[in-house]
Amino acid sequence: MSTMLEVSGVSHRYGTGDTAHVAVDKLTFSVDAGQLACIVGPSGCGKSTLLRAIAGLRPPTSGTVRLHGDLVTGVPDDLAVVFQDYSRSLFPWLSVVKNVEFPLRWTKIDKQTRRSQAREALAAVGLSGVEGKFPWQLSGGMQQRVSIARALASRPALLLMDEPFASVDAQTRFDLEDLLRRVQAEQGTTVLLVTHDIDESVYLGDRVLVLSKSPAHIVADLAIDLPAQRDQITTRESPEFVSLRGEVARLLHGPASTAPVQQAKG
Ligand SMILES: Nc1ncnc2c1ncn2[C@@H]1O[C@H](COP(=O)(O)OP(=O)(O)OP(=O)(O)O)[C@@H](O)[C@H]1O
Ligand SMILES: [Mg+2]
Repeated sequence: MSTMLEVSGVSHRYGTGDTAHVAVDKLTFSVDAGQLACIVGPSGCGKSTLLRAIAGLRPPTSGTVRLHGDLVTGVPDDLAVVFQDYSRSLFPWLSVVKNVEFPLRWTKIDKQTRRSQAREALAAVGLSGVEGKFPWQLSGGMQQRVSIARALASRPALLLMDEPFASVDAQTRFDLEDLLRRVQAEQGTTVLLVTHDIDESVYLGDRVLVLSKSPAHIVADLAIDLPAQRDQITTRESPEFVSLRGEVARLLHGPASTAPVQQAKG
């Protein structure tokens, strides 16, 4: 399998002198084409900083990022990002289909093809029929699906997702997780998804990279050997899932956090 993303010795420091803060510390890893890799780490450890460096939005203070072998020095054309906050990531004055085709304006793709790629991406996320509506006429979960469609419409080589399901309710979150796995398998997209939710990282990932507290470094790189066909109920109650989530939790928080909960007396 070919390597899609290579992160080599990436560090990021905010500020200089006494007030300098090292957010990311010499991270090295690679992601194969077609893989869905999750990064899990405590709040504030440097996950978004790392994604911004990979996306070419903010150059790392040291180290390099390569996408299919090319050094990343600005936002690559074939990279897309889904951010956490759907309510701030869509343009309220543009219809759903116009939001989805918006980033394609800067490509060489002609208008008609842009529209058909946007419609295709909306169909892939189960949103055919709402093309003409405005984002504010949709539920939060539907808006986040529009952001995912927008990211997929450009057929990116790499899709970066920063806590993409953190601001929706639990049921919608499950639906969006399943949607992502289905679309990713169908389209063979390479995905790097950041989350602080241990269960989500294990449920979604082919692989989970566990980060330390700030400054982030990799404490483990686990292969998730669960069956490719996953189900929110049976997968989550399988002994393999329970054991993997325990392993990630111990790596993140130490053994105490996974000790059995004491039953209240009474
Ligand atoms: N623009 C900035 N200037 C200075 N410090 C920053 C800046 N952005 C982030 N930081 C600091 O860098 C560290 C890592 O921040 P980052 O947002 O990457 O963490 P995170 O793991 O994504 O957190 P969360 O889980 O809360 O989203 C934090 O201590 C944060 O305060
Ligand atoms: Mg973050």
